[in-house]
Amino acid sequence: MSIIQDISTKYNLHSWSPQKGLKPTVITKAEGIFFYDEDGNKYYDMSSQLVNSNLGHGNKAIVDAIIAQANTVPFIAPSYAIDVRSEAAKAIVEFAGPGFEGGKVFFTNAGAESNENALKFCKAYTGKWKFLSMYRSYHGSTFGASQLTGEARRFISEPGVPGFYHFDGPYPYRAPKQVHFKDEADITNYYLDRLEETIIRENPDAIAGIFVETVVGSNGILIPPAGYLPGVRALCDKYHILMVCDEVMAGFYRTGTKFAFQQFDVVPDIVSFAKGATCGYVPLGGVIVQKHIAEHFEENKMWNGLTYSAHPMGCAATIAAIGEYERLDIEGNVRDRGAELKARLDVLQAKHKVIGEYRAIGLFSMIELVKDRETKEPFDPALTAKTLGLLKAKGFSTYLNENCISIAPPLIITKDELSDALDILDEVLTEVDTLI
Ligand SMILES: Cc1ncc(COP(=O)(O)O)c(C=O)c1O
Repeated sequence: MSIIQDISTKYNLHSWSPQKGLKPTVITKAEGIFFYDEDGNKYYDMSSQLVNSNLGHGNKAIVDAIIAQANTVPFIAPSYAIDVRSEAAKAIVEFAGPGFEGGKVFFTNAGAESNENALKFCKAYTGKWKFLSMYRSYHGSTFGASQLTGEARRFISEPGVPGFYHFDGPYPYRAPKQVHFKDEADITNYYLDRLEETIIRENPDAIAGIFVETVVGSNGILIPPAGYLPGVRALCDKYHILMVCDEVMAGFYRTGTKFAFQQFDVVPDIVSFAKGATCGYVPLGGVIVQKHIAEHFEENKMWNGLTYSAHPMGCAATIAAIGEYERLDIEGNVRDRGAELKARLDVLQAKHKVIGEYRAIGLFSMIELVKDRETKEPFDPALTAKTLGLLKAKGFSTYLNENCISIAPPLIITKDELSDALDILDEVLTEVDTLI
């Protein structure tokens, strides 16, 4: 064990893990879509770290913007106006596009904090107190965001804050056995009916907000079928509930558009974001609200505040990142690389029996590993972890959730880099096919 690793395991508490036996890889360099360990091994960053390093590592424009800000006003309390704070807010509200004219943004430090503040906006605006969100969702690990989260990462925060309820969002691959869908409209209608049933049972007059990950991220890249999100919007309008799109992972071109909701024919009342806003160079998140919510706070006090809201270095990084997304034509790259990724995943699925299904949109994808395609019996955690280890040993770094393996590289990835990384995946799956 190297000294850095030794000190790390002695003093750092590492996320989501029993600490005993951890051997965190020591990273010494990161550049473009690659990072390197202390032994000189090179890794394709095929998850963009935690789906946040959208512009890869070592982007000079972002680094320079942070340095310049550190040399002028590194920090000033949120009540003051400064150039980067004003410019970042304008850029973010414009980034949200049609529907957000006259809207405003409240900046936070990360995704969970964004959802925490979105919860408070919903309560303040509607005067109601209940919230609905999906099972198979992740909205952050702070206490309120944990209550929204629809999977095991919530359990440690239970019994939690009252008023949080969950519903099943679209996941046709694992729909109840008795349910057979004729077509996509059938899927949409089935899941919208399930949602409306939950709204009615929980009392629409008490429900302040419905939170959805526009495209469910860590819980499996669940892409809403056509009409589903407009249907959620219609239910929100019918029952006077605010619709919140959590774009913490899906935002900033990950799915191909600035925000993912822009390709699903829907405009939410509120958008929460983080990750790709600064691509991880410094922390920053936020909550964008439509004009009608911003106007509510003209006369009513806004009971939200953070010492580091709209931190100048975060704002400087955001302005630079938005500039880089444009300059590098990230939208075009995600379109082209995304099409290549899908085409290649089609081939891999045909070749490898362990892929039950893959789901992909833009450069946001997962393969779902099964022991048996007929029964869809999932890989057990040990086998999925082994697959991840084999990938890492060949320089393909990513993360897993349950029986799914994430493929979400930095949005700057080139055609050759993508092809080479997927060759590694192909090779590893050939070996894994023999393990079941
Ligand atoms: C959809 C979504 N929302 C919220 C969060 C929480 O963000 P953070 O870890 O920055 O608090 C995450 C983190 O992965 C996420 O994927």
